[in-house]
Amino acid sequence: MPGKLQIKKQPKEILLYGGTIIDPVRRKKYKGDVFIKNGKIAKIGNVKKKSSIHQVNCNGMVVTHGFCDIHVHFREPGREDKENLASGSHAALAGGFTRVCVMPNTNPPLDSPESIRFIIKKGEPLPIHIHPIGAITKEQKGKEICEMAAMKNEGATAFSDDGLPVQNGEIMRFAMEYGGMVGVPIINHAEDCQIRNDGVINEGEVSTRLGLTGNPDISESTMVGRDLELSQLTGSSIHIPHVSTAKSIHHIRRIKKSLQLVTAEVTPHHLFFNDTALMSYDTNLKVAPPIRTENDRKELIQAVKDDIIDCIATDHAPHTIEEKENTFDLAPFGMIGLESCFGAVNQVLVKNAGMKLEKLIQKLTVNPREIMGFESDLFSLGAQAEVTVLDPEKEWNFLESNIFSRSKNTPFLEKTLYGKIHMVFSKGNMTKIP
Ligand code: DOR
Ligand code: ZN
Repeated sequence: MPGKLQIKKQPKEILLYGGTIIDPVRRKKYKGDVFIKNGKIAKIGNVKKKSSIHQVNCNGMVVTHGFCDIHVHFREPGREDKENLASGSHAALAGGFTRVCVMPNTNPPLDSPESIRFIIKKGEPLPIHIHPIGAITKEQKGKEICEMAAMKNEGATAFSDDGLPVQNGEIMRFAMEYGGMVGVPIINHAEDCQIRNDGVINEGEVSTRLGLTGNPDISESTMVGRDLELSQLTGSSIHIPHVSTAKSIHHIRRIKKSLQLVTAEVTPHHLFFNDTALMSYDTNLKVAPPIRTENDRKELIQAVKDDIIDCIATDHAPHTIEEKENTFDLAPFGMIGLESCFGAVNQVLVKNAGMKLEKLIQKLTVNPREIMGFESDLFSLGAQAEVTVLDPEKEWNFLESNIFSRSKNTPFLEKTLYGKIHMVFSKGNMTKIP
């Protein structure tokens, strides 16, 4: 059984005092206090302490916006044994996330207005905000476009067949034209199925040595190239998920100079690991797209620093132990990622690559919210409090007891991470993360 988080109702008045405030919208960092009253931001700066107010000492901590992950798989409906919206929301809170977008590759997929309404209703009582992403095509079969306008009206925030690429270029063109009309981003899982050709890890020296079928980097970059040109042709926005290769970065870098319609994300695992880690045959490292080479990893890090990559998204993909304990060829693609996200990316980008923490925070808060068209100025007076308090320099060992997901499929177990979530304030609750 996963551990249980102690989620408490917020007292009427709370003072987060003595911390370093990072406001990613105003791009400011300063010492100060955050006063939350009736679940809303009531004052930021210097706030007088009163004994009647519940006080939280944030000395040595960073106080910032609640994180937003625009790419998670919560498996409801259909595979609630792996995760449901409730357990997923606990995993999210533990990772500092107050808002997530769930992918539609459930069983059945979220491909109708009714299924979108189902997620919205089920998410309402949960401690974080949950936004459904609708499928691009009916049953994610890649043939018939879903009723995007009706689904958007029910609350679909974007459209994707994630897990499966939209293989047919004409369907992708139509999807982008409709997406543009409806005013939502299209997110295509970019992997050319023919070029991928049943590859289970990156094609290269490691796949040859292990005797596993390889998936070449161009299975991704050729489709990214196609999608960028379709964005140019249709004038519709495209969001490129889980970019994994230097060649894709090359395309995105080139087109971003002239086209404002393109945004891109990277996962913590593509930033943290390279394919030599696969020498362990750990099926928890089997993901789609695959973990690539050290050269790709370095290019991804540089692209984050250069703002070619706009945001971090976990692609949290829970699977059962039974499925993951299969042989490498048969195990499913995916790893969980919410709880370990901040400690992993803060280590790779801030500690090891010298990026500013403020920039990392932008890529976990304001940027993903802007891609999805959510309110992003969370430190304006009167805003509903979505606040994350974190210890930016804590070194800690990621253990099973840190997991709140129903699944445990992660290669981060026993890894030393840098930076830890301390407390999260969301939807009138407060949660201390153990
Ligand atoms: O590794 C992955 N797992 N990549 C995807 O695109 C889908 C996901 C899943 O649903 O398990
Ligand atoms: Zn995914």
